[in-house]
Amino acid sequence: MKCIERIKYPEFDFKEYKASEGRHSVHDYPAMLHYLLVNHLIKNYSSENSLIYDPFCGSGVSIVESLKLNRKAFGTDINPLALLIADVRASNFETDRIRDVLDRFNIEWNNLTPDIPEVKNISYWFKDYVIKDLGKIRTFLRTVKDNEIFKFLLVVFSQTVRDVSNNRKGEFKRYRLSEEKLKQFTPNVRKTFISLVEKYLKIVETDIIPFTDFKLFLQDVRVSIPIKNVDLIITSPPYGDSKTTVAYGQFSSFSFDWLKGLNPYGDGDLKLDSLCLGGKKIKEQKELPSGHLYDALKNIEKIDEKRALEVYSFFYDYYLSIKQVVKTLNDNANVCFVVGNRTVKGIRIEMDFITAEFFESFGLTLENIFVREIANKRMPLKNSPSNITGKTSNTMLNEYIVIMRN
Ligand SMILES: C[S@@+](CC[C@H](N)C(=O)[O-])C[C@H]1O[C@@H](n2cnc3c(N)ncnc32)[C@H](O)[C@@H]1O
Repeated sequence: MKCIERIKYPEFDFKEYKASEGRHSVHDYPAMLHYLLVNHLIKNYSSENSLIYDPFCGSGVSIVESLKLNRKAFGTDINPLALLIADVRASNFETDRIRDVLDRFNIEWNNLTPDIPEVKNISYWFKDYVIKDLGKIRTFLRTVKDNEIFKFLLVVFSQTVRDVSNNRKGEFKRYRLSEEKLKQFTPNVRKTFISLVEKYLKIVETDIIPFTDFKLFLQDVRVSIPIKNVDLIITSPPYGDSKTTVAYGQFSSFSFDWLKGLNPYGDGDLKLDSLCLGGKKIKEQKELPSGHLYDALKNIEKIDEKRALEVYSFFYDYYLSIKQVVKTLNDNANVCFVVGNRTVKGIRIEMDFITAEFFESFGLTLENIFVREIANKRMPLKNSPSNITGKTSNTMLNEYIVIMRN
């Protein structure tokens, strides 16, 4: 790897700013990029009208920021819920027409017959009256014919499902409220839905997107990517497999259940976690072009062979993704990968260096590695051997922004 010093860059910390302001606060999503960081990177590494691509676009922070800066934006993700959220965050709406639909919703509410999808352990995760009311919203949604309004309301419905479920609030994994808290938990489903419609309407009508040229694809980036002529890639990939880092499938599972058959980007289920990078263990290790990965694996193997294989499996998938991502780039394109260097079994995995080495193996040049302190990112407990649900940790204090050039 080209010898390079990591540069601490406090200008990228944005400690006094919330990570999810304005459009980025429409619907929760785990491990979001800080929008101010993305804004800065787009300005620095691309020009107006260029094409920006985020291979792991999640809820679409880089899509929204690209459009705001008059760039075209493409995104891919394996999670259909993420794409739906990104789509709505990146779109402008005729808000008066949404208000008309909301009026009709209020008029029809008492006469709606619930449409309740098949949900495993539904009564464990939702109170009976909540199930009925969510079913009524589902019935209403089916009557909304305008595609854009439908997507907007679907995102509202998805967040409503999260808010009125028996899951602990602010928890990304499935983790039920305590019996005591459950007794006091009596959410009003209709009111929750209406107040989220109003909240999101205010956001989308005050924060207009000036440029609306974007495309989103449901895609496993390890396999292929239907995109070409990219000028800049900005992304934050997963930092490890879903089991030990962020469980995107678990996070999305309640919404998957209730949005079944409705999301234009497709349905999903809990199996999503096994489709994310590192979701399946690879039996045999092939050599990957990274000395830093090799060193970390050797050390983890001495302590726990099985864990070393899990780490390898993640990085094998990560390598396959980078191989595909590189094919989308124009000559002289820039790449910004925002990664975290986590610790497994006490061994630090230098994902920033590994990322640089993978890209270098495809002919790109490492330009810089900037280090920022994470102030606002909520992460589940990463390094505990028990990976206890519900705990968050401060162990990953830095984010590394790896800048490569084609
Ligand atoms: C760190 S998150 C991205 C968050 C995003 N930057 C944002 O601001 O919302 C990583 C994303 O990678 C996606 N992902 C995981 N495995 C994938 C794969 N094989 N192909 C495409 N996307 C994948 C997950 O669904 C998740 O949305």
